[in-house]
Amino acid sequence: METDYLVIGSGIAGLNFALLAAEHGRVVVVTKKRPDDTNTNWAQGGVAAAIAADDSLERHVDDTLVAGDGLCDRAVVEMCVADGPNQVKRLLELGVRLDRTPTGELDLGREGAHSRHRVVHWEDVTGREIQRALLAAVAGHANITMLDEHLAIDLLSMAKYGGDPACFGAYVLDRRSGQVQTITARATVLASGGTGKVFLYTSNPDVATGDGVAMAYRLGAACGDLEFVQFHPTVLYHPHARNFLISEALRGEGGILKLANGETFMEHYHPMKSLASRDIVARAIDNELKKSGADCVFLDMTHLEPAFVRTRFPNIAERCLSLGIDITKQPIPVVPAAHYMCGGVKTDLDGATTIAGLYAIGECAMTGLHGANRLASNSLLEGMVYSTRVAAAVKDLPRHRPQQVAPWSRGGATDSNDAIVVALNWDEIRRFMWSYLGIVRSDKRIERARRRIEILRDEIREYYIDFKITSDLIELRNLALVAHLVIESARRRKESRGLHTTSDYPDKLPEAIHSEIQLTNGPRG
Ligand code: SIN
Repeated sequence: METDYLVIGSGIAGLNFALLAAEHGRVVVVTKKRPDDTNTNWAQGGVAAAIAADDSLERHVDDTLVAGDGLCDRAVVEMCVADGPNQVKRLLELGVRLDRTPTGELDLGREGAHSRHRVVHWEDVTGREIQRALLAAVAGHANITMLDEHLAIDLLSMAKYGGDPACFGAYVLDRRSGQVQTITARATVLASGGTGKVFLYTSNPDVATGDGVAMAYRLGAACGDLEFVQFHPTVLYHPHARNFLISEALRGEGGILKLANGETFMEHYHPMKSLASRDIVARAIDNELKKSGADCVFLDMTHLEPAFVRTRFPNIAERCLSLGIDITKQPIPVVPAAHYMCGGVKTDLDGATTIAGLYAIGECAMTGLHGANRLASNSLLEGMVYSTRVAAAVKDLPRHRPQQVAPWSRGGATDSNDAIVVALNWDEIRRFMWSYLGIVRSDKRIERARRRIEILRDEIREYYIDFKITSDLIELRNLALVAHLVIESARRRKESRGLHTTSDYPDKLPEAIHSEIQLTNGPRG
């Protein structure tokens, strides 16, 4: 299959790119499960934009820089923040519904480390609403082909044909038929989301296996800042609820973190208390849990007007109620969990990676906006801003393509009779990554993880060569590589900064330096 633009992923960044690029070319979007199986669809908070009368672009820039702890790229932050109000307009034009005040203004929520109310939202399911509107706009579009249940295996490189390593498409597995398709394109755009499934506990959906980062790294693209894994402080703690986020917007509306005995604790950690930035709140909870041996802490909303809580957070209230927790009467049991990858595939201001023809947008990219710790609700904004920029940048891109493209071939691979290996390896990686590369790290823990991932990667490599591919095996291979990259990046950072906290180096180094990791040159940084 030949197209102009191949998009891998169907969240906010991928679909907004598809819509804009379809104005000047044919677009194929591959998405590995249903089109709405995305991190975007699970986003609760909203989109940050400085539009309130008491707000300013400078304030939004400053809040982003402070949260990023020295590692944000100021030019990128200024560009994204300045584009925020336009992107909110575009969302409205696309038919996204956003909550309004009784006087008709956009209702603005507040989240951790924001000095002002600036998060536009639709109830507590903003991502779902954006996903709905984007899918409706894409549906039936003459220039857009959506291939659901299609999983990209590897990117195509001109290097295999004696050229520079320019990317010209991907091998893609049709999960329904088991056939592998070769899709070539002028530009290949990674919009494949996050890496949360590398950790045992995560707020992410099952699709978040870091496929984009893994494929780009294997192609030789520079990746960076992968040690900065954001742990969301408040994911529901309940045996029958997996991955259910309790949005930071609850704390923005006055929710207070408490211990089981009802005592507050955040005042011991930061003047912004429960509304401090995520790294601080997650570390504080981790510390309190380790001190007391408790399983969880609690988020208390019971002092707020019940009708307001139910109207502002209908989805959270209903889900909790279905599990026997009335959030207007009882504090919500919460724990931290892996939520967002701040690093990713390195890009320039136009979303271009270090490989010609390859672009990265959304969570899989490292644009320089988030630095060492992402400010809440800046990610949907980043997805909109960069998908717009990439769509403009690829307009006149030349096509790289060999005369004859080699079809996917797996020689003597046979059907696996030992699929349990995949499940066990997957489970083992997620467990030790949680224990050793979690909220507080140390040299010893990182080294333990490093030894384990090397053994597992050897096993997975062998398995990958011997047996026919399945989507589970492709994801496991990616997950293991991303775990390795997180470990290597963490191993090299000899300081505590933003989301990377290590008990061996509790202080920040005087100079903030990005980490970089790239296949050709070996890990650096
Ligand atoms: C939340 O609603 O707490 C998540 C928002 C975000 O991750 O930006």
